[in-house]
Amino acid sequence: MKKTVLVSGGAGYIGSHTAVELIAAGYDVVIADNLSNSDCSGVEGVRRITGVEVPFVEVDCCDKEAFARVFAQYDFDSVIHFAAFKAVGESVADPMKYYRNNLLSFMNVVDLMREYDRHNIVFSSSATVYGEPDELPVTELSPRKPATSAYGNTKQMCEDILRDSVAAYDSLRAIALRYFNPIGAHPSALIGELPRGVPQNLVPYITQTAAGVRECLSVFGDDYPTEDGSCLRDYIDIVDLARAHVAAIDRMTSGDATERYEIFNVGTGRAVSVFELVHTFERVNNLALNHKVAPRRAGDVMAVWADTRRANEVLGWRAERPLDETLRSAWEWEKYVRKL
Ligand code: UFG
Repeated sequence: MKKTVLVSGGAGYIGSHTAVELIAAGYDVVIADNLSNSDCSGVEGVRRITGVEVPFVEVDCCDKEAFARVFAQYDFDSVIHFAAFKAVGESVADPMKYYRNNLLSFMNVVDLMREYDRHNIVFSSSATVYGEPDELPVTELSPRKPATSAYGNTKQMCEDILRDSVAAYDSLRAIALRYFNPIGAHPSALIGELPRGVPQNLVPYITQTAAGVRECLSVFGDDYPTEDGSCLRDYIDIVDLARAHVAAIDRMTSGDATERYEIFNVGTGRAVSVFELVHTFERVNNLALNHKVAPRRAGDVMAVWADTRRANEVLGWRAERPLDETLRSAWEWEKYVRKL
């Protein structure tokens, strides 16, 4: 029996890859997106890769009446909620924009799921909830640290809203996935990350520098107490990350979930430094990247990577795509976008 999943924010970077993997796994998908940080190319890419004319509704999840019409029209039992703003720096400069959008859209999803008797939700959380960890790698039981940005705060608040809602409403089941650093693109190079303006994240900055759109990559800090002095992160391939969502939906729809609210880290379990990432990108794509050392970036944690045992053992998911391949895909995507 086919099951349908509503993917809010499904035109975006993680949402579009997840839609592809859901369809590959036999699910029907409905995409809802207001295109505030994406365009129709994400949906077109999903359709081209899968050969499925995926239904797309242009709607703002903050507009409850309009969003309710999606619930009335489509018969899905599961929702993956990606629709949110995600620029850390912007959220510090304009916190109300983030609280209004990210919290309201999330509360509308939870309300509508109850009103329309829909049961399973996957929420996009983030490793940002761990802040600067006391112990590494971080497990799902590691303490959450006070958020240093409104963006991070909305992730913590939505996790709390989910926990309280599941506790109060018997009809709901939920999984929060705490993403580490998603990178790369689909092997077809038909979908990938499309940042607007100057990229804030490392890999889009690298690919745009390689393409000549940016002059030089700044490596923010080479004086951290790490082996090569740069920060350590857990870079998770976007297709692997998308498949973690499929595993989460499988778990809830098959009744395997032992708790009604579960949390999983989604990472590789491997720490990679900024320099290592840059040099790997250069090696696998056979090019030299213009880069220089710059001062530390305010708000950066020195190191964070995932303990993935729970995701491996309980969710039955693990990261598979090697970093070399992921960084090749990132460059293929940039070349496709730039018509190089
Ligand atoms: N970096 C550079 N130069 C750049 C951009 C980034 O050296 O031009 C470095 C950063 O200092 C950091 C690493 O590359 O050491 C990764 O930075 P990103 O901006 O790509 O990612 P972050 O780890 O800062 O942020 C990511 C997500 C956020 C999330 C956070 C949680 O983008 O959404 O992880 O840890 F909140």
